[in-house]
Amino acid sequence: MKNKKINMEKLVNHCKNMGIIFPGSEIYGGLANSWDYGPVGVELKNNIRSLWWKKFVQESEYTMGVDAAILMNPKVWEASGHLASFTDPLMDCRSCKTRHRADNLIEKHSKGSVNADKMSNEEMESYVVQHKVACPVCGNSDFTPIRQFNLMFETYRGVTKESNSQIYLRPETAQGEFVNFSNVQRSLRMKLPFGIGQTGKAFRNEITPGNFTFRTIEFEQMEHQLFCKEGDDEKFYDFYKNYSMEFFKSLGFENDVLRFKDHEKLAHYAKSACDVEYLFNFGWGEINGIHNRTNFDLSRHQEFSGKNLEYTDPATNEKFIPFVVEASYGLDRITLAVLDNAYDVEELEDGTEREIMRFKPSIAPFKVGILPLIKKLHSEKAHDVYRMLSKHFRVMYDETGSIGKRYRRQDAIGTPFCVTIDDETINNQTVTIRFRDSMQQEVVALDNLVAFITSKLAEE
Ligand code: GAP
Repeated sequence: MKNKKINMEKLVNHCKNMGIIFPGSEIYGGLANSWDYGPVGVELKNNIRSLWWKKFVQESEYTMGVDAAILMNPKVWEASGHLASFTDPLMDCRSCKTRHRADNLIEKHSKGSVNADKMSNEEMESYVVQHKVACPVCGNSDFTPIRQFNLMFETYRGVTKESNSQIYLRPETAQGEFVNFSNVQRSLRMKLPFGIGQTGKAFRNEITPGNFTFRTIEFEQMEHQLFCKEGDDEKFYDFYKNYSMEFFKSLGFENDVLRFKDHEKLAHYAKSACDVEYLFNFGWGEINGIHNRTNFDLSRHQEFSGKNLEYTDPATNEKFIPFVVEASYGLDRITLAVLDNAYDVEELEDGTEREIMRFKPSIAPFKVGILPLIKKLHSEKAHDVYRMLSKHFRVMYDETGSIGKRYRRQDAIGTPFCVTIDDETINNQTVTIRFRDSMQQEVVALDNLVAFITSKLAEE
């Protein structure tokens, strides 16, 4: 069941207080739509990325990974269409000089009943005028006509800022996979169908407020491109829709917080496209896109690079440009969805409340909290246990405050197991293990502790 108690403000505060996510460059007043992962958040994000890589690269018989450069030859962005059309429709408020996306203004004004994605610029402009759409900042309704604003961040290589030295921070990782299609195919003798997977940073000059890490200017993507013969494309499109859902279930999401949303307006090159949406505390939001991109990408790169990107079928000698089915995931958005899904405030029998992150143990940032009962007496032994467990799991040592407070701190960052070190550990080589969700305790022999935790982690 979806937890109704949380809102974004509460989650943002919890993340800051518990070392999960901090505002970016906070001591300088921050930078809009930028965030830093703290010691707890970085572990969570790493775990989600590793699970994605395992499912999409390691467990796939036909997928290879790459790690392509962020800065690419600018012709890549001509070929991909980003230079010409990776734009947002912006309007400036003449009264207060703030800048807004026309589609957002319309969707907000119509309370979501009008889908501005389907409208042309002229239609959006006349909607704003006819309905006297108000500026969300000053309340007046006096906007400039729409200007298309390119979302790519520009930079320059070398010492001069001339147009021929202009390059871009990549707005998606996908192009690094497309431009390496022939390299991967030839170097590893891949036969169709085969996939290329990659994770890495992408950058977009987003001007709209972001709902915490939902929309940021710098974010990480995890993208998988499946190259196949025309005719097999729709089969793989359906396959990756199911595979995506399996992936999201493995992160602990239930059916009631996930849904598919078909694109109503297809990009000119796409044959089919849908998103997977998660029910955030602010409503449904896209966390993953699955697209049948036809042979658009490789055809364009062949045309703009002048290099032959055809594949020769070894059985028939037929030459053709493969189709691509893309499955594209935003790591930061998925991490936010996991945080939103896991956060809970539980009322206890004694009338008190505890904050708890109900992460699946496999993605929990820390697996075990190691807590000496009395610092003076038990900390030395607890350090021994730390050294033993840290060879197997990400663990946290905490000796500050009462044992009850320390349990609560571990609950609040989602640690599934706490191990208490006391006299019994010193005299009888046993520890008490306490479970996050049930708060039950069990005594386990030190010799058996690694195997015990390993088997509990494997139970999910
Ligand atoms: N190669 C296809 C592509 O990039 P996209 O729908 O623009 O498709 C894919 O992006 C995913 O990247 C989205 O589903 C979302 O999870 C994530 N994403 C996109 N823009 C983002 C932003 N500004 N901040 C955080 N995540 C973003």
